[in-house]
Amino acid sequence: MANYKVCVVGGAGGIGQPLSLLMAMDPNVSELCVYDLTLAMVPAEGVAADLSHLNHKAVVKGYAFDKDDRAIDKAEECLTGCSLVLIPAGVPRKPGQDRKDLLNINAGIAKNIVEACAKFCPDAVVALIVNPVNSVVPAMCELWKKKGLNPKKIVGITTLDCVRAEKFVHEVTGQPVGGISIPVIGGHAGTTILPLFSQDAAGATIPADKVPDLDKKVQDAGTVVVAAKNGKGSATLSMAFAGARLGRAVLSGLAGTPVTECAYVESTITDLPYFASKVTFGKNGVETVHDLGPLSDYEKGRLEALKPVLKEEIAAGLEYAAANE
Ligand code: NAD
Ligand code: LMR
Repeated sequence: MANYKVCVVGGAGGIGQPLSLLMAMDPNVSELCVYDLTLAMVPAEGVAADLSHLNHKAVVKGYAFDKDDRAIDKAEECLTGCSLVLIPAGVPRKPGQDRKDLLNINAGIAKNIVEACAKFCPDAVVALIVNPVNSVVPAMCELWKKKGLNPKKIVGITTLDCVRAEKFVHEVTGQPVGGISIPVIGGHAGTTILPLFSQDAAGATIPADKVPDLDKKVQDAGTVVVAAKNGKGSATLSMAFAGARLGRAVLSGLAGTPVTECAYVESTITDLPYFASKVTFGKNGVETVHDLGPLSDYEKGRLEALKPVLKEEIAAGLEYAAANE
């Protein structure tokens, strides 16, 4: 096993706490930093004190900063030496909101953190959970590139879409859930979420007339959780579970055992500059961005329909980057 330093930014939040728990249990993690604001619901130091009693090898430390602090002035000790920074910092949506309504506030939060990562851990994989992923990732990638850093280190986490698609295929087919692997491509909002049921043995058995509803169920799953939480946040526990799956994959790759997961990254596999698809994580982070593979006719139609939507959301991120250099 390897010994990596990992930071969870927003680590005292709804996603951050369970994600910190799961990362503290990863045998490749020797140091875990829980980083949040002093106004967080629970002090980051308290989350860290709590997690420091797990009988796992990770040393857990907490860092809390004032909301007016610039991370770049404060986060040196916390970020220096990190191999992976997971960022669930930001505002979740409320019923009636779209993810894209969060762009201005959340891109501002992400920028503050990503600039600090560029300074203190420029070799880290920086994995963004903060919404809207479709726009925040391009914005942060532009920022990263302007600093002369490798854009392959910036990763948008879309694993929750795969987790959901796999669970729903299990429920429909009764096949063992551990054997189901559904790539979800495109982006992480509404129709840009495209599960490729045809590429999995169990998923491929779903009758063609049932596919559109299951596809829509995956697209709407985040909204269903937002509605059920009734104004008190969005998916946190399932997101932490999914984020830890991606985090484990990244660390395994860094340690020399490549792992393939879907993620939203800078991409040339379609005509869009950012796209979620299967990605192999290796010793340098994103090693291979895989082609889409064979698609059913339904999936081909959906792909063409989602492109203009995703293109606009990417453009919004690039506009944010240009206006906030
Ligand atoms: P939350 O409000 O419970 O937690 C967010 C945490 O971030 C808080 O503790 C807050 O203090 C902290 N924070 C805010 N600004 C910060 C800054 N500048 N530096 C450090 N910490 C800061 O929210 P949550 O439910 O955990 O959701 C977080 C984000 O994740 C939201 O934007 C949400 O939309 C997104 N999300 C993404 C996915 C996905 O699939 N990618 C899934 C679920 C939620
Ligand atoms: C999700 O898919 O659960 C997240 O993107 C949160 C949300 O706003 O739906």
